[in-house]
Amino acid sequence: MRILGIETSCDDTAAAIYDSEKGLIVHRLSSQIDLHRQYGGVVPELAARDHICTLMPLVDNVLHSPENGGEKMDAIAYTAGPGLSGALLVGASIGKSLAHAWGIPAVAVHHMEGHLLAPMLEETPPPFPFIALLVSGGHTLLVDVEDEGCYQILGQSLDDAAGEAFDKTAKLLNLGYPGGPAISKVAQGGDANRFHFPRPMVNRPGLDFSFSGLKTHVRTTTQKIREENQLDDQTVADIALAFELAVVDTLGIKCGRALKQTGRKRLIIAGGVGANQRLRDHLTKVTADLGAQVFYPRSEFCTDNGAMIAYAGYVRSKMIPDSNTSNPIDSEQASFDVKPRWSLENI
Ligand code: KG4
Ligand code: ZN
Repeated sequence: MRILGIETSCDDTAAAIYDSEKGLIVHRLSSQIDLHRQYGGVVPELAARDHICTLMPLVDNVLHSPENGGEKMDAIAYTAGPGLSGALLVGASIGKSLAHAWGIPAVAVHHMEGHLLAPMLEETPPPFPFIALLVSGGHTLLVDVEDEGCYQILGQSLDDAAGEAFDKTAKLLNLGYPGGPAISKVAQGGDANRFHFPRPMVNRPGLDFSFSGLKTHVRTTTQKIREENQLDDQTVADIALAFELAVVDTLGIKCGRALKQTGRKRLIIAGGVGANQRLRDHLTKVTADLGAQVFYPRSEFCTDNGAMIAYAGYVRSKMIPDSNTSNPIDSEQASFDVKPRWSLENI
């Protein structure tokens, strides 16, 4: 089965083709970072308009790529949510229209299931069951993954997502957008002994997260130093490092707790913040100390991409009874509904 995956939930337009026998065939991405940078964050209306201009040429590009060799698609997977509604609608309408025209099924994919399954695209995929730490710009989730499609949320952020905290802290320090990579880069030159920021909610039982207090702590510290005219490059690096260490340590404590609580022996990290090298190194140590193993996708598949949507679409299409997939031109297919808010437990 060959499946075209389309991702337009936020600020990346991406398309990819996955083949159930040959694996990932081709993937392409067009980033909107330059478009949103001047505003210091994603402007939803601009994101949607850019997806409209970019998606069809990108789809055309993967379909006519030498890697695809002119093969026809058996299904189209598109991100149906969660995400920005205008942005989602672009992928949903193009995905469903193409599927309708070609007489093949359109498969609605949950963006976070895409992230969760992204490590399956690697050479050594994690066997089920495992614990998944999903850390993106919109979500921080700890999920017990029994098998494909069997997900139980163990903990989540009660306020800001981890990526959001990175982005807001970077803005505060004038490090630009997107904040995660900017903070990590600057933090490399930081002195770990200068500041120590709180590890939120680690002394309370449970697996939920909260990052807004940490963000406020960074803001108060930064404002005080700024008022004293002492916010030089070294101080910014020291604050960035203290922030990164606080987030990484907090995520590590909760992942360790989730592994102990469930008895699982494998952890996967996915989502944009999963590209953070300090987080990867720390979780490798945390899991090794517990006699467990860690898995993560290559960096480009931690952040948003079409490959994970194509793969999740393949997994979903295996679960849909044949009668549904063989008749794509039904009323459900003709409507372009998306789910900007959508729990991983209600797919
Ligand atoms: O998964 P993703 O690409 O999009 C969403 O689904 O939200 O995640 C984007 C988030 C942004 O908040 C970005 O700052 C963060 O991931 N991010 C990072 C790194 N690369 C991206 N955070 C920390 N370190 C990184 N290297
Ligand atoms: Zn994402």
